[in-house]
Amino acid sequence: MDAKEFCERYAVERKGTNSLKWDALKDRFGDPDLLAAWVADMEFKAPEAVLDALQQRIAHGVFGYSYVPDSFYEAFIKWEKEHHGYTVEKEWIRFSTGVVTALYWFVNAFTKIGDAVILLTPVYYPFHNAVKDNGRKLVTCELVNENGNYHIDFDAFEKSIIDNDVKLFIQCSPHNPVGRVWTEKELKTILSICKKHDVLVVSDEIHQDLVMEGHQHIPSAIVGGGAFAHNLITVTAPSKTFNLAGLLTSQIIIENDQLRTQFDNYVKTVNQTEVNILGLTAAEAAYRHGQQWLDGLLSVIEHNYNHVKRHLNEQAPNILISPLEGTYLIWLDLRNVIDANQTKEFIQDRCRIAVDFGEWFGEESKGFIRLNMATEPRFVELAVENILSNLEDFAVVGKSSE
Ligand SMILES: Cc1ncc(COP(=O)(O)O)c(C=O)c1O
Repeated sequence: MDAKEFCERYAVERKGTNSLKWDALKDRFGDPDLLAAWVADMEFKAPEAVLDALQQRIAHGVFGYSYVPDSFYEAFIKWEKEHHGYTVEKEWIRFSTGVVTALYWFVNAFTKIGDAVILLTPVYYPFHNAVKDNGRKLVTCELVNENGNYHIDFDAFEKSIIDNDVKLFIQCSPHNPVGRVWTEKELKTILSICKKHDVLVVSDEIHQDLVMEGHQHIPSAIVGGGAFAHNLITVTAPSKTFNLAGLLTSQIIIENDQLRTQFDNYVKTVNQTEVNILGLTAAEAAYRHGQQWLDGLLSVIEHNYNHVKRHLNEQAPNILISPLEGTYLIWLDLRNVIDANQTKEFIQDRCRIAVDFGEWFGEESKGFIRLNMATEPRFVELAVENILSNLEDFAVVGKSSE
């Protein structure tokens, strides 16, 4: 399915449907009329198979306590095996009502107050919150940014671990917001460093299925033939892949028996809920029948990304666009064209776009923005048009106010 057909079939108006992205603009940005290009969900309906499965479930009319059916495990295990080469056993799987919730649990289950937790920044801001909100010490190691191309400084990472006696690394793979899909070599190096210093790794692989052509997501659990799986917890979900975030269903994979027991013992102190039957129903249908829909979605993301690249490269080449290898979130460095302190004034007040601002992901990223490509091309075209048409005028304003 190409991008045009996908949009014709699945694009839908979300304003006025209690969507965080569109209906919370006033609350979150102080302005209800912005073009919403922030939070990571989409203007697309879920695959038909998901809607059919949910409708059938709703027609049954009973929403009592639920139990995870074997068919769910089968569908998820098959997906992981076929798409990512990861053989997951049913006994290793646990559930949470969201990946971020799970991150908070991991921090509490596996570290003590005051322990150091390391992140590679810039990174998805709830990672920072999960560390800080729980009274742990946040240690950041900046990714190296070479004209928008990011890589890991392994020596700096190892030094930070040693200097701070780090206990836990929360990895983002693929990486939000810089769009990297880590190579096997990079993963092997970082996982080896963690193993050497006895640092537990939590790998957030929620974007595992959103990978552009020419790149391949490698689950950390299979790197080096599974050499690091003992020291690792993987968390993933169908929520980004199939636009199901509101159904609050995510999977945790813990191979190591001892870590799993420690996790279970912690979770029973904070969570006594059963699974969300609608979330599970949707997830199973998506894993079973969502492939064609996902292929269509990936062509929309690619189409939108190419549009941004083409127009900005031609008309504003000083805006740096990080290569999108994975996720559907593009990372733009505006610092060559506007004063970083005026990013909000430019993007929000002038261009009328709601974005995730760079500094949300780490202090070093002021002057960057993250834009969501999983939307209708007309929204992306409008965002690009607004940026380009205001740029010259604003850059002059910026200069005259210096
Ligand atoms: C890396 C990463 N982890 C977690 C989440 C959110 O997951 P959840 O909605 O399941 O808490 C996102 C959402 O964008 C994300 O990018």
